[in-house]
Amino acid sequence: MPAPNAAAAGQFAIAGETSVNRLGFGAMRITGPGIWGEPENRAEALATLRALPELGVNFIDTADSYGPYVSEMLIREALHPYRGLLIATKGGFVRTGPDQWTPVGRPEYLRQEVMMSLRRLGVDRIDLWQLHRIDPKVPRDEQFDVIRAMRAEGLIRHAGLSEVNVAEIEAAQKFFPVATVQNRYNLVDRAHEAVLDHCARHKIGFIPWFPLAAGNLAHSGSALDAAARRHDTHPAAIALAWELQRSPVMLPIPGTSRRAHLEENVAAAAIRLTDEEFSALDHQGREAARAAS
Ligand SMILES: NC(=O)c1ccc[n+]([C@@H]2O[C@H](COP(=O)([O-])OP(=O)(O)OC[C@H]3O[C@@H](n4cnc5c(N)ncnc54)[C@H](OP(=O)(O)O)[C@@H]3O)[C@@H](O)[C@H]2O)c1
Repeated sequence: MPAPNAAAAGQFAIAGETSVNRLGFGAMRITGPGIWGEPENRAEALATLRALPELGVNFIDTADSYGPYVSEMLIREALHPYRGLLIATKGGFVRTGPDQWTPVGRPEYLRQEVMMSLRRLGVDRIDLWQLHRIDPKVPRDEQFDVIRAMRAEGLIRHAGLSEVNVAEIEAAQKFFPVATVQNRYNLVDRAHEAVLDHCARHKIGFIPWFPLAAGNLAHSGSALDAAARRHDTHPAAIALAWELQRSPVMLPIPGTSRRAHLEENVAAAAIRLTDEEFSALDHQGREAARAAS
């Protein structure tokens, strides 16, 4: 069987300008337990990253806080100078230990993190930089204004937000064009439907994090199994295919530290669910989301 290719998912132009294949890669899982420190299998993490271009994955999501710094540094080691790849990173979420995440949105700090991501990634400009969280302790306009300034200075090309509602997107739009929104979303986690629909109306890229529910949608024993059997593929690929079909602005970034899982996930790009399959999964996903809430 030929290797899967993310190009089969079609393309999305970030801010109408920068085209990427719609199935991307999340680089949070190439770090240690608790997203802290080096990965347990560094060679496998590097091999997974190095496989991305040959599988057509040209949209890679990372953050200063993954490791911290480990993810950005491994991406540089494996893929610099990134020919044809868009490396999107984030800042504004500090780490005080494994599994601990605290928003820090002081403008001086956001600027430092952009400067440090530039240095770690070895680039002159970050193609897509996203505010990892709006810090509730800092006026949000101050956070948006430093992003506006860093775009004007050419440190950032496109800018996005993470875990935001529609009002926050509209408030940020007064400072800079919001190119992407990265919110938690998957078949069984539908809290951000309104944000997704807003993004679709305004051609803002919607990047669902947790697209596989941290792996739960990758295992057998769910409603995905029957469709996986019909398409001769894995449940993870069906979950991702459903997301890709849910909206043309959807840019899933499944995370994995294993090359074999990467190939299973990229297989989603070529899967076309029938209308009946899509609706049945959609219905089952909404029911599961309702039961869980
Ligand atoms: N903006 C935010 O606040 C935010 C928050 C969290 C994550 N993110 C981003 O979103 C990306 C995706 O989210 P995520 O990594 O948390 O969750 P995810 O993609 O839903 O799931 C990742 C987990 O699923 C497992 N997995 C992946 N493919 C698999 C397969 N084919 N079969 C079996 N297991 C599989 C991985 O384990 P293996 O390593 O063993 O494959 C990993 O533990 C992250 O990498 C990160 O870039 C953003």
